[in-house]
Order: sequence, then C-alpha cells, then structure tokens
Amino acid sequence: GRSIPKEKGLDHTLALLKEGYNFIPERRSELQSDIFQTRILGQKAICIAGEEAASVFYDENLFTRKGAAPKRVQKTLFGENAIQTLDGEEHKQRKRMFLSMMTPGRLDELAKITREQWRAKIPEWEQRDEIVLFHEAEEIMCRIACQWAGVPITEVEVKQRAIDFGTMIDTFASVGERYREGKKARSRSEEWIEKIIKQIRAKKLHPLENTAAYIIAWHRDLKGKLLDDRMAAIELINILRPIVAIGRFVTFGALALRDYPEEREKVKDDQGGYSQLFVQEVRRFYPFGPFTGARVREDFTWRDYEFKKGTLVLLDIYGTNHHPDLWEHPEEFRPERFKDWKESPFSFIPQGGGDHYMGHRCAGEWVTVLVMKESLEFLTKEITYDVPTQDLTYEMGRIPALPNSRFIIKNIQQS
Ligand code: HEM
Repeated sequence: GRSIPKEKGLDHTLALLKEGYNFIPERRSELQSDIFQTRILGQKAICIAGEEAASVFYDENLFTRKGAAPKRVQKTLFGENAIQTLDGEEHKQRKRMFLSMMTPGRLDELAKITREQWRAKIPEWEQRDEIVLFHEAEEIMCRIACQWAGVPITEVEVKQRAIDFGTMIDTFASVGERYREGKKARSRSEEWIEKIIKQIRAKKLHPLENTAAYIIAWHRDLKGKLLDDRMAAIELINILRPIVAIGRFVTFGALALRDYPEEREKVKDDQGGYSQLFVQEVRRFYPFGPFTGARVREDFTWRDYEFKKGTLVLLDIYGTNHHPDLWEHPEEFRPERFKDWKESPFSFIPQGGGDHYMGHRCAGEWVTVLVMKESLEFLTKEITYDVPTQDLTYEMGRIPALPNSRFIIKNIQQS
C-alpha cells in the first residue's frame, strides 16, 4: 500500500482548536492530498475529504460509530450513548423511530407553526429600539421545537430553555469553563425532559400520537423494550436541540440577505422556488458542522491506502462543501448553482452524507430546509428592518461559527 501523507508533530489538538474549519482544508492544500494523517486528542486520526471519500466513510461495512464521538461531545451536544453512537440493526431501528416523525403532514404542520411563531413576535419588536436576531431566532426555534414535538413549555421558562439548548450547541468544541457550562445546560435539560417522559408514561400527559414526545416515549427497541427514561429524554432532546440550532443557519441566511442585496429581492419574489436554492446555498456556504468521525471496522484498503481496524477517521464536512473539484467558485455565494444541480448524496454534506435510513445522515435535514425557508421568507416578505453598522464578521477558528455581533436589526415594521 501507499503511505498516507503525514503531518509531523506529537499532537495537533491546539491547532485544531485554533484553526477550526480551516484545520483540515489547510493541511490538505499544504500536503496536496485529500487524505492525510495527524494526531489529535492523543490519538492518530486520518482526515479525508471529497465525494469519493464521503462515499467510503458512509459505507457501514467499513466504519463503526462505536467509540468515535469524544465523551466531551456526548456530554454537551449529543447526549451519552444516543443514536449517534449506535451501529447496525440497533441503529436502523432507532433511526426509523426518528424518521417516522417526518411525515408530509407533520412537516406541513411544522411550516404553519414556524410562520405563527415568527408573526407573534412582530408587535413586541415594533416597540423595541433594536433586537439581536440570533437570540430571538433561538428562542423562536425553541418555541417551534416544543410545540411541534408535543412538549409543554411555559412562557416563564422558554428563555432559559432556549439558552440551555443554545449553550449545548455552542460549547461542544470548548474547553474549561465554557465546556462546564455546556454540561450543566445538558443536565438541566435532561432532568426537565426526563420528567416529561415520566409524565407521558404515567398517562398524566397526553401528547398527540404522531408527535416526537409520543413516538419516543412509546418506542420499542429490537427486544421490544421501552427506552429507559433518561435515554428517551436524550433522544427527545436530539429533536429539540437541533431545531434550536436552525437559528444559526437563519442568522447566516440573514447575513447573506444583507451582504447580497439582489438575493433579498429574489427570495422575496420566490420565482421558480428560488428560496429553496437560497437555503441550500446558505447550508453549503457558511460554516456550521466542521467534520464528523467514525472508526475503521475491519482493515481495508482504499486507493491503495491502508486503513487499520480501530483508526479514527474524520470526514471534512466544511471542506467537502467547498471542494474545488465539486463546486465551481466554491468561495462565492451563488444559489443558482443548485438550479440544475446533479444531486449527489456525497458532495453536498452540510448535515452528513449517504442515505437517511441506512446511515448516520442527519434525521432533521427536511426539517432544517423547511424551517429555514419559512424563516427567511418571513424576514423578506413579512417585515422590513434596518441593519445598523456592527461587526458581522465571523471567525473560522470558532467552532461553531457565528457573526460576532449576532446580527442586530432596527426599525422593525410589519410590511
Ligand atoms: C445527525 C448536522 C439539524 C437530528 C447529524 C449529523 C450532522 C448534522 C453533521 C451527523 C452526520 C454523521 O455523522 O454522519 C445538522 C445541522 C443541522 C441539523 C448542521 C442544522 C441545524 C437537525 C434537526 C434535527 C436533527 C433539525 C431533528 C429535527 C439529527 C439526528 C442525527 C443527526 C437525530 C443522528 C442521526 C444518526 O446518527 O443516524 N446532523 N443537523 N438535526 N441530526 Fe442533524
């Protein structure tokens, strides 16, 4: 076999924390290779990028998720031992549970809830001098998530719950105090949702049958057993938290509307389904998921490179979405590129690649696209606002990235 290009040095965890989304792409370009070997978190890791690399990464005969997600990511972002860490039949059974929530009828309902929750905010915003769109979006997403999933939430608690979900997302790549805040936010949320699960099981709370809360509370595993209370809570949070995360893409979408004023008009007119193209380009262009990881299941060879059982492999999500072999002028924001786009499950991977049912590709991709569309149509069609001077830059070294000012808007009026 050929030897995989290797980065010198004992450990590159600090470089990864500093360079963020650029860590893998920069080394790829330095080494002139879409595959290289490095050391992070005290272990060897092979980094790969591109369409063919993604198709290998999502071959479940070659890779396992067991022991792939670092504990610190599980203690903030995912929850411990949840769907992200499962393999084989156990994973497929759990995945069918998630995907059974995404029926056309339930997605229509989600669109309706999304419109209503944004509209409900207009009177308050018209009275205010300015708002921070990112914080408002996270709170609105939290309301949408709970309503859609059948989770009761009171007006008194919604702010703190939204902040907790936001903190879990914001701290998964953090160390020290920020990481501890992430863990605390997760514990509080798990305790809250576990109580909800217990109430449903005690028949004291009756969410509608097709909601996430109902489906997860009564889901049976391959042995016919209910999930234990905590695991059910963790999986229900795996629906609520990522819906809150859509607030980040909405904020980047608002940034694109401001940076490319001609786009604003096109989204507003929505001729020929333009807002769909716009949403896809937001998901491709802006940094959110940096990479995803798995371990080699059994020794195998790819392109004459040897992959040894147990090795950690990281698939470059951001870099594949910006790969010059796959995207013309990848650093330009061009929604039209999605017009005649030859769909491939492995080249456009903001939420993972492959098949939703068979592999680990994001269960919430349709939800994300739909909520983004409704939200960005709201921002263009239903209100007008000014974007005052502020620091809208975002750092590629910060995972997950966000505009520094969190997107302040003023003079909000219903249009
Ligand atoms: C998995 C990204 C929204 C539910 C994933 C993965 C990524 C991702 C990268 C892992 C892919 C892999 O490792 O192979 C995102 C991004 C989102 C988002 C950037 C934008 C907000 C959502 C939403 C939901 C959701 C809205 C639920 C309604 C899930 C679940 C998994 C997952 C359950 C685990 C799937 C599995 O392990 O089989 N997501 N996601 N995500 N996502 Fe999302």
